[in-house]
Amino acid sequence: MVTSGKGGVGKTTSTAALGAALARTGQAVVVIDFDMGLRNLDLVMGAELRVVYDFVDVIQGAAKLPQALIRDKRIETLFLLPASQTRDKDALTEDGVARVIEELRPKFDWVICDSPAGIERGATLAMRHADAAVIVANPEVSSVSDSHRIIGLLDAKTEKAEKGERIEKHLLLTRYDAARAARGEMLTIGDVLEILSTPLLGIIPESEEVLRASNFGSPITIGNPSSAIGRAYVDAARRLKGEVVEMTIPSDKKGLFTRRTFMSDRLSGRTAVEPAVNSQQQKMKDCNATAGEQKLTGDARRTFMRSCLKGT
Ligand SMILES: Nc1ncnc2c1ncn2[C@@H]1O[C@H](COP(=O)(O)OP(=O)(O)OP(=O)(O)O)[C@@H](O)[C@H]1O
Ligand SMILES: [Mg+2]
Repeated sequence: MVTSGKGGVGKTTSTAALGAALARTGQAVVVIDFDMGLRNLDLVMGAELRVVYDFVDVIQGAAKLPQALIRDKRIETLFLLPASQTRDKDALTEDGVARVIEELRPKFDWVICDSPAGIERGATLAMRHADAAVIVANPEVSSVSDSHRIIGLLDAKTEKAEKGERIEKHLLLTRYDAARAARGEMLTIGDVLEILSTPLLGIIPESEEVLRASNFGSPITIGNPSSAIGRAYVDAARRLKGEVVEMTIPSDKKGLFTRRTFMSDRLSGRTAVEPAVNSQQQKMKDCNATAGEQKLTGDARRTFMRSCLKGT
């Protein structure tokens, strides 16, 4: 599943880009839109005019699953199960979702669920059967602190968690702006990683390509895979498949930030000694320092960080 605490951080963009990148390597992929009422994924995939039946129709028995699946026109192995227009929050039933996921699981290499924002029913239904979660966050306090909440839920409310197994978690940092980061206007990657203590799947740069791609109904990894953001998503998809790919922050600009390697920053200790230059960063550093002094780890650290960042 692709999830986040806060809305609007790039889940749908990432679902489409990762799904398309995986499918381009020949893997069978279905992306499912769990965001009933909003229905963004079909637009981003360029399939909005082809929706006849949707997820709710399948659950309610008005259509069979193969009737509702839309095959991508560009990539043979890429499919979409669209959300319904209904805003009825109960249209997705727990049993219905379980049935659909079980039917898809043996047919596809990847079943990617695009979660709605927040931690309400739609999000918990989307995570219920997940083997792995991609947690999308932007390098800012509100996004990071809301991610804690979701990470807690992944460890409590999923089928895997109930069986005493751990769900695989990956952090995807999106809308990373190298220029703003250099000016200290965003949280540092080091800070985000330290608080969320979740392995990094990739760093996706802020890019105007996203708007262009969604206007064309073409996931970035189909429309412009050689752009910086396209490369960042292709790399992230490869890591999801278990390949070892050097962690870089691809950039379209020549010069200072071009393929600057993130690890070299970390290894040189630069992220550790960077002074905080804005109040968000200062708060993060203060909370981190207190958590460190109290020797908090795991869930206790996450709970503490959440309340500390929210100032309670
Ligand atoms: N890397 C990026 N660079 C620039 N804009 C981006 C980037 N990623 C996403 N956006 C823009 O941010 C907005 C939100 O993106 P998206 O719909 O993917 O987020 P979401 O997490 O799915 O939102 P929601 O929680 O509402 O479902 C969109 O307008 C999208 O074009
Ligand atoms: Mg979305």
